[in-house]
Amino acid sequence: MTELIVALDVDSLAKEKDLLRGLRDTVTFYKIGLELFTAHGKRAVDLVHQAGARVFLDLKLHDIPRTVAAAVREAQKLGVEAVSLHLLGGADMIRAAAEVSPRPKIWGVSVLTSMSDKDVKAIHPKASLSGLLKSLAKTGWECGADALICSVQDVEDLRRALKFPDVRFVTPGIRPAEAEHGDQKRVATPEAAARLGVDAVVVGRPVVAAPDPLRAAQGILGAMKRAAEHEVPKGARLKLS
Ligand code: C5P
Repeated sequence: MTELIVALDVDSLAKEKDLLRGLRDTVTFYKIGLELFTAHGKRAVDLVHQAGARVFLDLKLHDIPRTVAAAVREAQKLGVEAVSLHLLGGADMIRAAAEVSPRPKIWGVSVLTSMSDKDVKAIHPKASLSGLLKSLAKTGWECGADALICSVQDVEDLRRALKFPDVRFVTPGIRPAEAEHGDQKRVATPEAAARLGVDAVVVGRPVVAAPDPLRAAQGILGAMKRAAEHEVPKGARLKLS
């Protein structure tokens, strides 16, 4: 069953509390990312734990191996369930993070869902999004990452290319069919994620910026449940765009 992780992409503890209160009993896993953690640090994490929910600390670590390992050690002290790092940091950095014990789960960012093939080529003309994605994912999985963060659009390709039967996927860039894409370029519907059996989806604006966040979260959970049971209603068919 695909889990829903709601990204608490807000700038104040008051807004965080409102969301936690509003989504209580429906959402039990939250992402705290750069915005809220820079603003409020540990207090933001503690609020989620006090609400009885779990935390994915999305700091997208990318530094020399010692520094990243030290940050993972500190994340463990915060009691978070998972922390993210950029697989672009390389094999030694990923291994150093994975060797920390005890530690939260390490989720490795492959290519950001806000990046297209054109964006990748602008960084390196000979690189391709799919080539970069596969080599990052392979390195990440072999060096001890517990899950790969990528677009739903990448999942089938990576499963085929990697041939690791137990590889786990966490996918942002989720947009219900009617939702705005914003800065996300490689998006997919919640139904598509559920049908592919990804482990968790990370959803920000479609929930936190919705007029009724609870209704939005319930809609996404319902859509994923129906899709997983192969009962996708007409009009909500798998849409990879
Ligand atoms: O608002 P939206 O649903 O686009 O938010 C997606 C969340 O997932 C954001 O908090 C973003 O930081 C995060 N994320 C992402 N792409 C990645 C990794 C994380 O969009 N590759």
